[in-house]
Amino acid sequence: MAESMAGLHRTHRCAELSEKNIGEKVTVMGWVQKTRNKGGLVFIDLRDRSGILQILFENGACSESDFERAGRIRSEFVIAVTGEVIERGGAFNDNLTTGHIEVKAESLRILSESETPPFPIEEDSKTREEVRLKYRYLDLRRPDIQRNLILRSQVTTLARKFFAEEGFLEIETPMLCKSTPEGARDYLVPSRVHPGSFYALPQSPQLYKQLLMCSGYDRYIQIARCFRDEDLRADRQPEFTQIDMELSFVDVDDVLDVNERFIAKVFKEIKGVEVPLPLQRMTWQEAMDRFGSDKPDIRFGMELKDLSDLVRDCDFGVFANAIAEGGSVRAINAEGQASMPRKKIDKLIAFAKDFGAKGLSYIVIPEDAPVKTALSKFLSEEEIAKIIERVEGKPGDLILIAADKNKIVWDVLGNLRLEIARQLDILDKNDFRFLWVTEFPLLEYSEEEGRFKAMHHPFTMPMEEDLKYIDSDPGRVRAKAYDIVLNGTELGGGSVRIHQSDIQKKMFEVLGFTPEQAYEQFGFLLDAFKYGVPPHAGLAYGLDRLIMLMTGADSIREVIAFPKVKDASCLMTEAPGPVDKKQLDELFINTVVPEE
Ligand code: AMO
Repeated sequence: MAESMAGLHRTHRCAELSEKNIGEKVTVMGWVQKTRNKGGLVFIDLRDRSGILQILFENGACSESDFERAGRIRSEFVIAVTGEVIERGGAFNDNLTTGHIEVKAESLRILSESETPPFPIEEDSKTREEVRLKYRYLDLRRPDIQRNLILRSQVTTLARKFFAEEGFLEIETPMLCKSTPEGARDYLVPSRVHPGSFYALPQSPQLYKQLLMCSGYDRYIQIARCFRDEDLRADRQPEFTQIDMELSFVDVDDVLDVNERFIAKVFKEIKGVEVPLPLQRMTWQEAMDRFGSDKPDIRFGMELKDLSDLVRDCDFGVFANAIAEGGSVRAINAEGQASMPRKKIDKLIAFAKDFGAKGLSYIVIPEDAPVKTALSKFLSEEEIAKIIERVEGKPGDLILIAADKNKIVWDVLGNLRLEIARQLDILDKNDFRFLWVTEFPLLEYSEEEGRFKAMHHPFTMPMEEDLKYIDSDPGRVRAKAYDIVLNGTELGGGSVRIHQSDIQKKMFEVLGFTPEQAYEQFGFLLDAFKYGVPPHAGLAYGLDRLIMLMTGADSIREVIAFPKVKDASCLMTEAPGPVDKKQLDELFINTVVPEE
């Protein structure tokens, strides 16, 4: 039977007790991790969010009835125990902070009983994720997830404090917004009062934070929930959280400066890790050329090398044609991998094909035999020697070469580089390598839509020196946009915004909006800009990703209390689900569900 709390007061969390408390009378409460019955003694491991504490029930030290009930307690019962902290009678457990003590129970209350849980509540659970997520409330009891959420809370507390001290104001922006077509797909919310009209949940507070700058709030911060209806991955959820900010009267360096000090502080205070400042900066072009990625993992080398000048006029059509068509031929050197079995190389080739490669050439440099490569059919020995020289190949190395459009070559080699590093298990999760990637292209051409799209968003400021190309060669214009990257993950991104109406008009024109369309979508912002707008810039971190990397979790699901799975559903509540016809009628909604 569940007993009440009447007259009881918890004095400590379990793992807050230590040798210092020996001799004190304490009351602790929590969940039973496990019990051991040893003749005249009952041992209980009691767990709460702080950790585990051993309780000892001994007949005589507590009442006979408490002793007898203690013997019947099972895992996950919620109990309260009052007793004295004593030095452990048995062996010490150095794995626990409370490993040298125990509480000798004087009284027991069983606050609630528990059925046998569907999986054991333990660290490093082997239980399938689907089961864990169905019973997330039990999964959240596990110490590793609790540590993740505790660290997350520490980071948001520190973020609020740090930015408040830097003069930022925390301001909330709406959840029910206007749908805008640029960016990811919106989550829509039907309006009952305006039949046939919809709100959109915010993909980010972007427009509102810019309006706050127009309104003079100068430095804004928000821990903001964002919603995007896009395909999910380990580092993507349909709803996620940003540490979102905007600053007035600033340029790129001001935003980077305050943010690197924030990052250094978070890592120092919460992880005890020193992040050397200033953080490394790399232009987008350099990141692509050296790492084949705009979010390079700089924990290891294996950098891309451009071979185009060496093979432009060679007899191998695949190489020569790729270059003639405006693409390139590039390579990476997988050092020490010459003895990789053929099967494994074939797997790498298949992997490369997933990223758009038509094939992959390679050169094996054995330790004590001549170089082996199918390229020798087409390339002279001298040409092959030059390639080896370019990638600093030496005996024992394996050189992988891709030829195609630049975008494909970067993607293929950038991903191969990561895949090989993963296979070699050389990526240390506790080595935190930050960098800023700057000078992103302003626009990116969408083959699908046959037009340029904003790489970041339509309010991002072009670099002043590139404005001259905006009509003649829009793809060449770089933006005052930056991303903060940690170990190959895009942690956050931002930009300086356009605050001049003529540049904003031009931008919409390049993006293919008529002035009417632009006004229809963003009229409120364009109007606001007519009444005095300060130069402004901002940035948003993906909080979930930051916590994932800080905790070493493999997915952001491990750092979100109630995450969704790949198909965007919640296994615990079974959302999304059907609703009553009456609810739909009130919203004037008819659904047409395709038969499958
Ligand atoms: P952006 O779209 O780059 O910029 O988003 C900023 C950061 O948010 C995180 N993020 C996500 N995290 C989890 N799941 C998702 N689906 C997801 N999508 C994005 C990433 C990303 O770097 N308003 C601009 C910021 C600005 O310009 O100030 C914005 O939202 O870590």
